[in-house]
Amino acid sequence: MANPAVRYEVTATRYRPKTFDELAGQEFVVSTIKNSLNSGQIAHAYLFSGPRGCGKTSAARILARSLNCSANDKGKVSEGPCGICDNCRAISQSASMDVLEIDGASNNSVNDVRQIKDEVLFPPQTGRYKVYIIDEVHMLSTSAFNALLKTIEEPPPYIVFIFATTELHKVPATIKSRCQQFNFRLIPVETIQGILKKICAENGIKADDDALFWIARESTGSMRDAFTLFDQVVSFSRGDDGASVYIRSELIREKLGIIGLEKLNALAEACAANDAPLSFALTDEILGSGVAIEQFIIDFSGYYRSLLLLKNGVTRESILGYRPALFSLKALEAYDSIRLEQALDILLDCYRDVRYSVSPRFELETAVSKLTWLNKWVSPAELKEAIDDARSVMASAGKTGAAPKAGVSRNDEVQTAPVSFSSEVPAPKSYNGADDKRSLTDEFNRMLAAKGNNQGISSEPSNQEEDVPMWSSAVRKTQNENIPEVENVLSVIPGTIVP
Ligand SMILES: Nc1ncnc2c1ncn2[C@@H]1O[C@H](COP(=O)(O)OP(=O)(O)O)[C@@H](O)[C@H]1O
Ligand SMILES: [Mg+2]
Ligand SMILES: [Zn+2]
Repeated sequence: MANPAVRYEVTATRYRPKTFDELAGQEFVVSTIKNSLNSGQIAHAYLFSGPRGCGKTSAARILARSLNCSANDKGKVSEGPCGICDNCRAISQSASMDVLEIDGASNNSVNDVRQIKDEVLFPPQTGRYKVYIIDEVHMLSTSAFNALLKTIEEPPPYIVFIFATTELHKVPATIKSRCQQFNFRLIPVETIQGILKKICAENGIKADDDALFWIARESTGSMRDAFTLFDQVVSFSRGDDGASVYIRSELIREKLGIIGLEKLNALAEACAANDAPLSFALTDEILGSGVAIEQFIIDFSGYYRSLLLLKNGVTRESILGYRPALFSLKALEAYDSIRLEQALDILLDCYRDVRYSVSPRFELETAVSKLTWLNKWVSPAELKEAIDDARSVMASAGKTGAAPKAGVSRNDEVQTAPVSFSSEVPAPKSYNGADDKRSLTDEFNRMLAAKGNNQGISSEPSNQEEDVPMWSSAVRKTQNENIPEVENVLSVIPGTIVP
C-alpha cells in the first residue's frame, strides 16, 4: 500500500543539479572548475559569488562530491562525480562527515570560526578532502574574517573551503585575494524556459509555451524562483481529476491577478487617442478583475518600456516580454521615444508614490489621466530648443527686421542684438496647471510655425505685440541675464524639470 504521508518534494530540490553538466547557464564557471579538477590543481579556497538561486550552493556540493567521489582513482579527482558511491550519496543527503555546510548568517561570530580552526586539524574520515561550504560568507563579522584569514591561507593539505555569497562587495579584499573567485550569472530566460519545458515533458504536464515563458521571465534569472513559481502554478492548474495538469496563461493571469497584453494594448490605445473616458473605464475594469494597483503599475510601465525598446529597434522576445507583433501598432506609432520615456517616468513615479499615498487608486488614475494627453507633452529640452529658436528669430529681427539667415550663430546674435519690443509687452504671468502649460505650448508652436513659414514674427514691427505675447518679456530678459532665466521660465511649467 502506498504510504499516504510521502513527503512532497519541491521541484527546486528534486531538480538540484548533481553534475557540472546539469548546472545551467554557468558555462564559464563550469569549464574552469572542470579544467582545474582534471589537472589536479585544487585550490585551498573557492569563492562563489552571484545572485540568489543561480547555482552557487549546488556547484559547491558538486565540487565537494568531485573531490571525494570514491569512483575516482586514489589520490586523483575528476570533473564528474559518479553520484552512486557512498561518498557521493552521503554528500547529496548532507550526511557526509567530510563535507560541512555552515550558514555564515547564523554562525558569524569569531567563536564559530575558532571552532572551525580547531576542527580542520582532524583529517577527513572517508573521503580525500574535508570540505567546508560556508554560505552567505559576507555575513561573518570582521573579527571572524580575521580569524579565518590564517586558516584559509595555509590550511592542512586535505582542507578545501568553498565560500558562497550574494554580496561580493561585502567580502573583505584580504579574503578575496586568498580565494579562487567565480562569478555566477543570472540564467537567461530561454534557458529557464527550456528547463521548465523539459520538466513538464518528464512529468506529463501539459503547458503552453507562452505560459512557461512568462514564468521564466517573472523569475528574473533565478532558477530557484522559477521552480517556486512553477510549483505554485502547477498547484492551481490541476484538472478536476486531481492528476492531469495543464498550465495556461489565461489561468495564471486569473489566479495571480496579472493583466493580459490585450488589456494593456487597449488601455494604451485609449490613452494614445486622448480618450480619457475610455481610459478610466478600462482602468476600472482591470482593477475590478482583481489586479492589485501596484501590479497594474508594474505591468503598465513594463508595457511602455517594451514600446520604448521596440521604438529603438529591440525585437528580442526575452527582453520585450512578448513577441513584437503582439504589441499594439497604434500605441507604438502614437509616440516618439521622448514621449515614451515620459510615460515610463509617469508610471515609475506613480509606483513610488502609491506606497505613501492615502489613496493609491487616485494616484493611478492621475497617472492614467496624464497619459491621455501625453502626445501634447513637451520635454524641457524641446522647450529650451524652442526658446532658443525664438530668441534667435527675435534677435535677428531686432537687428535686421528680417528672418534669420541660415548659418548665423544663434548665440552671437543673442548676445549682441538689442531687442526692439516695446516696453508695453505684458510681463510673464505665473503659470499653473495643465491648461496653462498647454496654452504656453500652443503659443510656442504658433511662434515656431510662424518661423517655419518664413514669415518672421517680427518682420512687421506693428504686429509685434500681437504675435509675441507673454513670452517676449521672458525671452527678452533671457537675453540680458542669460540661461538661468530660461530655467526660471521652464521651472514655472508644472511637470518640467530644469535641464
Ligand atoms: N544553474 C542552475 N541550473 C539548474 N538548476 C539550478 C541552477 N541554479 C539553481 N538551480 C535550482 O535552484 C535551486 C537552488 O539553487 P542553489 O544552488 O541553492 O542557488 P544559490 O546557492 O545560488 O542561491 C537548486 O536546487 C536547483 O533546483
Ligand atoms: Mg545558496
Ligand atoms: Zn561517487
